[in-house]
Amino acid sequence: MGDAPEILVRFDQVHKSFRTSRGRRQVALDGFSMSIPRGAVVGLLGPNGSGKTTALKTLLGLVRPDRGTITAFGRGLPADQRFVARRMGALIEGPAFTGSLTGEHNLRLLGELHGADRSEIADALSLVGLDGAARRSYSGYSLGMKQRLGVAAALLSQPDLLVLDEPMNGLDPEAVRHMRELLKRLRDERGMTVVVSSHILSEVELVSDWVTIVRNGRVICDASVPELLSQGTSRLVVRVHDAVTAQSVLAGHGYTAVPATGPAGPELQVAPPVSGPKGPNAPDAPDDSQDPDDSQDTDGPDTADGSEVLKLLTDRAVYPRELLVESASLEDIYVAAVRAADAAAAQQESRHGS
Ligand SMILES: Nc1ncnc2c1ncn2[C@@H]1O[C@H](COP(=O)(O)OP(=O)(O)O)[C@@H](O)[C@H]1O
Ligand SMILES: [Mg+2]
Repeated sequence: MGDAPEILVRFDQVHKSFRTSRGRRQVALDGFSMSIPRGAVVGLLGPNGSGKTTALKTLLGLVRPDRGTITAFGRGLPADQRFVARRMGALIEGPAFTGSLTGEHNLRLLGELHGADRSEIADALSLVGLDGAARRSYSGYSLGMKQRLGVAAALLSQPDLLVLDEPMNGLDPEAVRHMRELLKRLRDERGMTVVVSSHILSEVELVSDWVTIVRNGRVICDASVPELLSQGTSRLVVRVHDAVTAQSVLAGHGYTAVPATGPAGPELQVAPPVSGPKGPNAPDAPDDSQDPDDSQDTDGPDTADGSEVLKLLTDRAVYPRELLVESASLEDIYVAAVRAADAAAAQQESRHGS
């Protein structure tokens, strides 16, 4: 997987603002740039109002951008919208079905638009796991089943790219899991590319190969999940009965040990000494003045060495119950990206302000 992925869709600096009913301008996309790699499940993440739906609508040709470019399947939008539309299936702002008809009947009506025959409809129903409920009326479906029927409808045109706007919104955890498994199946068994938006990280965290994080109409992170996870720093966690003593032992050796309450009592999150004593081969007179820009680039590792920490503690008769390395989660990375974006925005504001 070392090769750079083929990018199926690219948004480049897309701007869109709406005129509200009060005659004000509401910016929805503010230089929105994102990539959709072929064959990936892409999680489009951001709080409500951040511009997710608008972005997906510009791709589908439902909203025309003010500025910026979108290329999809090697074609430019909106010029080649029809070419691109034939390759996409979408579920946006909830499916519109007739309650009194069965799931299958609803699909048949939609299928006529796409020229889908009976076997294609049956295939779509079984892909989304609704074959058993095909003959039941739509009004009796659970929310999760309704959403899955919406996905089935989006599949009728045999798309390469499936665009789903908040398909897990309001679903219970079981239905969310069902939807996640469906998305994986579409990727793995049908080779589909899937974009799925959500304002809740946990909904898409387990299924996304790629995440795009939006805030205020702007993308603050657009990257492959394995890459993000490998860049995040892991931390050493020491679970110990006497956290106070452990903390002072470690502090005495230059470690930063932050007490926390873990799942099983007190624990310490241990960071290695920042500019502690160098190893035996360190030069006698380190010249710090040479490169002032280098100050953040310390020589030490990012994660404290577990065996060293264990030795320091046991030498002082402090015996940890557990010692583990916790790697960064997507949530850590999400929070860090949002904080960095907010800090940058605040800085810019204060520069522009008085
Ligand atoms: N048709 C519209 N008219 C006016 N404002 C709109 C319209 N569509 C979206 N907006 C505004 O644009 C911003 C982004 O909305 P949206 O794309 O729906 O965000 P999200 O899907 O992330 O919740 C919001 O402030 C929203 O109120
Ligand atoms: Mg939305």
